[in-house]
Amino acid sequence: MKRYEALAEEIARSIRDGLLRPGDRLPSVREASRHRAVSPATVFQAYYRLEAQGLVRSRERSGYYVTRSAAKALAAPPEPEMRVPPPSESTELDVSELVFEVLESAMSRDLVPLGSAFPSPELFPLARLGRSMASSVQQLDPWSSVDDLTPGFSRLRRQIALRYLVDGMHVPADDIVITNGALEALNLCLAAVTRPGDAVVVESPTFYAALQALERNHLRAIEVATHPREGIDLAALAEVLERHRPKACWLMTSFQNPLGSSMPDAKKQALVELLARFEVPLIEDDVYAELYHGTSRHLPAKAWDRHGLVMHCSSFSKCLAPGYRVGWVAPGRYRQAVARLKLTTSLTTSAPAQHAIAAWLEKGGFDRHLRRLRRTLADQQATFLELLTRHFPAGCRVTRPSGGYFVWVELPPGVDALELHRRALSHGISIAPGPIFSAHRGFANGIRLNYGHTADPRTGPALATLGKLIASAM
Ligand SMILES: Cc1ncc(COP(=O)(O)O)c(C=O)c1O
Repeated sequence: MKRYEALAEEIARSIRDGLLRPGDRLPSVREASRHRAVSPATVFQAYYRLEAQGLVRSRERSGYYVTRSAAKALAAPPEPEMRVPPPSESTELDVSELVFEVLESAMSRDLVPLGSAFPSPELFPLARLGRSMASSVQQLDPWSSVDDLTPGFSRLRRQIALRYLVDGMHVPADDIVITNGALEALNLCLAAVTRPGDAVVVESPTFYAALQALERNHLRAIEVATHPREGIDLAALAEVLERHRPKACWLMTSFQNPLGSSMPDAKKQALVELLARFEVPLIEDDVYAELYHGTSRHLPAKAWDRHGLVMHCSSFSKCLAPGYRVGWVAPGRYRQAVARLKLTTSLTTSAPAQHAIAAWLEKGGFDRHLRRLRRTLADQQATFLELLTRHFPAGCRVTRPSGGYFVWVELPPGVDALELHRRALSHGISIAPGPIFSAHRGFANGIRLNYGHTADPRTGPALATLGKLIASAM
């Protein structure tokens, strides 16, 4: 056990034994570091871990406090084990059809959307954003259709660059390319650095659209084992880089979809250094970056990039404006290749949408909205896990991400996720079954559930039904 894990475990024990009660403040990082003769970084890591477990919550400029739901969090199911490693060979892809089949079956508004990839649209200030769009479009310079061609509206790129700056990252506005959502950014990056037949590293499990993109481009996938809390296994990745010489890695370093895992900073730095050693570009999908549940943002791997190898992709789709299709990429040394590909595939991104979001960011208020959104999602996760603990049978294991809006559930051995998906649909519930996240159709007993709709009163009864279906399949 590492030092920070031992410290976190000791504090969790004090909470379990009632020594630390809800509302109690943990010792400050400086105090804990002095008393226990460990570095402040170790204490921080321990506190982050407790925060990710829902046991403590940080309050700005005040410290870490035991949460009201700590006792319930301690009673929650254990973390998934992910016992079966992915195949060590690269895989030719044939999953797209299954992904479409599952997604198309789950699109109806009548279903309880536990399998949805989207948070509830009710969480976004869409009416106010619409008014902002109306006024910014009225003032739109007719020449904007020419001036704002790729790389995109300069005032929007400046606002994005300023947000990087707040994180201590120097990403000039000229190094940013505006795209139609993050998905276009990711696809352009993939096209910029690969040719048909190349191998690309993905996490295991991974976001299904990455697998579909690889399949469409006739690329091979190399899946690398991924820890449910700390992300991709760097030792396994190093072996893959040595043996397969892949042309790119497509990863999510924070709030990974579907697991919710986040790599600690030191691991992100080690990842960037490892990839630099092999000169392998990283396509970093960071769409959930703004949805952290604690008080501080997780830096992307891009923050440690000294060689321009990291292509950082994100968007406003998950944090502000779903449906506006405004995303971006900071492609490092691949900027020109990505911008040219963007010009030849979709020319540019909708000018009204770019202007509306730029006006919104310039006006201020984005951070206020984000603070509310993060608090809501953190509360929804606590409620969701409480319901899940109550209704799911023993033997289920679940992740407890520190951001985003997904949890990954490992079902008891023998329960088939695809069969459960079909049975759940017949009860009006969608879930996302494990095999759609895997190039080799693994994770037969894994499911991804969306807690971003927990305000929907159908959630509790749906989880009760799902629990019964799981129990009956055991
Ligand atoms: C992990 C991940 N990456 C990228 C995307 C696509 O983002 P956008 O809607 O901005 O294209 C999604 C959307 O579901 C996603 O879940």
